[in-house]
Amino acid sequence: MKQAIGFIDSGVGGLTVVKEVLKQLPHEQIYYLGDTARCPYGPRKPEEVLKFTREMSHFLIDRGIKMLVIACNTATAAALVQIRAELDIPVIGVIQPGSRAALKESRNNKIAVLGTIGTVKSEAYPKALKRLNHQVEVDSLACPKFVSVVESGEYKSAIAKKVVAESLLPLKNTTIDTVILGCTHYPLLKPIIENFLGADVAVINSGEETASEVSALLDYHGLLDSGGDTIKHRFFTTGSTSIFKNLAEDWLGMQDMHIEHIKLGEGGKQ
Ligand code: DGL
Repeated sequence: MKQAIGFIDSGVGGLTVVKEVLKQLPHEQIYYLGDTARCPYGPRKPEEVLKFTREMSHFLIDRGIKMLVIACNTATAAALVQIRAELDIPVIGVIQPGSRAALKESRNNKIAVLGTIGTVKSEAYPKALKRLNHQVEVDSLACPKFVSVVESGEYKSAIAKKVVAESLLPLKNTTIDTVILGCTHYPLLKPIIENFLGADVAVINSGEETASEVSALLDYHGLLDSGGDTIKHRFFTTGSTSIFKNLAEDWLGMQDMHIEHIKLGEGGKQ
């Protein structure tokens, strides 16, 4: 039986990672869970994010996934180490791949990280970047308004442009040459962010590098799917299936997606 790669996020953000994985690994089957009912995770305490991440992981483990991608920076910062220790399948997050991609791109080692309040407070990016390269200078900027703009489906609107311009003003006219989208929701705003920052600033979506890591890890564990069986992706949300469906179809270019509503935590039957 075909085994899926599991993806978890606080909402639709992790679909930006799924998009890259589908591009690089088209034979793989995806199970995705977005905890939209409890989104955003950004302002929550790390212990709570760990609890929610554990609930999401177990929901997908119960459905037989072969690998877990924590496709959420906030959850990666708060829970990757523990979840990895608790599960007996390969588990990866998005912070290490995002950091690697940024270091490859930057020419002057001046990097800014955009993220949720939780990710910025955790200092997970500065730590990951400096571990790889001691010379790097890192600025972090929390952009708490971006997630609701994306979750509401407004990510191409005039409101999105206004929110991006206001939030990223501190990065205008600096010497930073690379900006990491340190929240998986933010790549949906990438065209607006790039337009605002200008052509001299590289904007990094960690999805591509994460997909390469998924590929390498599956290969290493002998878990890569080479095709054959019919693929049946599954998408679960704890929130509105219609909002999720509209965004997922637009972003992934899929049609007639079937989104399954589920409950987690108290009242959730797994
Ligand atoms: N997509 C998430 C991230 O990468 C979190 C958004 C949120 O729930 O605040 O951090």
